[in-house]
Amino acid sequence: MARPAPDKVLRAAVIGTGTIGSAWVALFLARGMTVTAWDPAPGAAARLDAQLSKIWPKLTKLGLAKGRRPDRLIFTATPEAAVAQAELVQENALENEALKIDLLARLDAAAPRDAVIASSTSGLLPTRIARRMKRPERFLIAHPFNPPYLIPLVELLGCAKTSPAVLAWAMKFYAAIGKTPLLLKKEVPGFLANRIQDAVWAECVHLIEAGVATPEQIDIAIAQGPGLRWAVMGPCLTYHLTGGEGGMTATLAHFGDSVGKWATLKPTRLSAKTRKALIDGTRREAAGRSVRDLEAFRDSCVGSFIRTVTREGRPAAPRKAKPA
Ligand SMILES: NC(=O)c1ccc[n+]([C@@H]2O[C@H](COP(=O)([O-])OP(=O)(O)OC[C@H]3O[C@@H](n4cnc5c(N)ncnc54)[C@H](O)[C@@H]3O)[C@@H](O)[C@H]2O)c1
Repeated sequence: MARPAPDKVLRAAVIGTGTIGSAWVALFLARGMTVTAWDPAPGAAARLDAQLSKIWPKLTKLGLAKGRRPDRLIFTATPEAAVAQAELVQENALENEALKIDLLARLDAAAPRDAVIASSTSGLLPTRIARRMKRPERFLIAHPFNPPYLIPLVELLGCAKTSPAVLAWAMKFYAAIGKTPLLLKKEVPGFLANRIQDAVWAECVHLIEAGVATPEQIDIAIAQGPGLRWAVMGPCLTYHLTGGEGGMTATLAHFGDSVGKWATLKPTRLSAKTRKALIDGTRREAAGRSVRDLEAFRDSCVGSFIRTVTREGRPAAPRKAKPA
């Protein structure tokens, strides 16, 4: 079976159908694909069905799906059966290196030779988890952000043996299903966005430990402050504007030597007091709203926000170079 054009994929396999796997199933179904899925947990097929019943109305509201949920999902008895006809395999099993090494070797042995195999791992290194695959050239990491049907970013990263043609194909495939794929340059644990999140989170924890701020104050500081600018244009272009007409050159002249002067950025062990402050603080902020209520609030706001920014024209979007 030859590899289809990236925007003509008809058959996807989803392995592991928990939080992330079920969201990929929904997205692939909404894009007209037939999906074969497998998960070893007892009752997984029924749980996936229940999860899709929750996700589908959200996709419809976001304009990503139309009509009733299509009847193109087949839950299989083995991973081999799930991938046997697949053109794209998305692996979403538990974040455990030994488990993924074993599972990816099985998927590699059973999938058609041209199928592309992607792992959703949040931070395991691709060359390590692909080490028992016979055809690692068709393997890559495609790391989504929760919930994958809503947050556009998917980080792509090959292993040492991934073919450049497969990476180019994957960039086009994820773009064709409405994602914003970002091809990373190097294998590093945690990839890109989670490393940045980790640095910010480490500082949040330090500030609580040091008694500088409560969890509520930290959330206001980000959500009502830099978070709004970051969501539109990220920290680099934001600092370009900090320098006024002089742009980044002026910003660096002003602040260039003080990078990291304020932030602590050391690994932190959470004290019992800080753990309690985080749990109590976020409970106060939730003010009786359930996690599901808060998820619905987040999804609705992020959906409107993405529509607005797309309409206005996102500044960081790649533009075609003007002819000289
Ligand atoms: N939750 C997130 O925010 C998030 C975001 C991006 C990526 N990820 C990554 O996605 C993957 C799945 O995470 P999740 O949050 O959906 O976890 P989850 O616990 O919700 O789902 C994991 C699923 O894997 C199944 N499983 C267990 N053993 C398996 C095996 N041998 N083969 C196949 N499936 C198996 C479990 O039954 C479960 O349904 C992980 O690699 C994680 O790092 C998670």
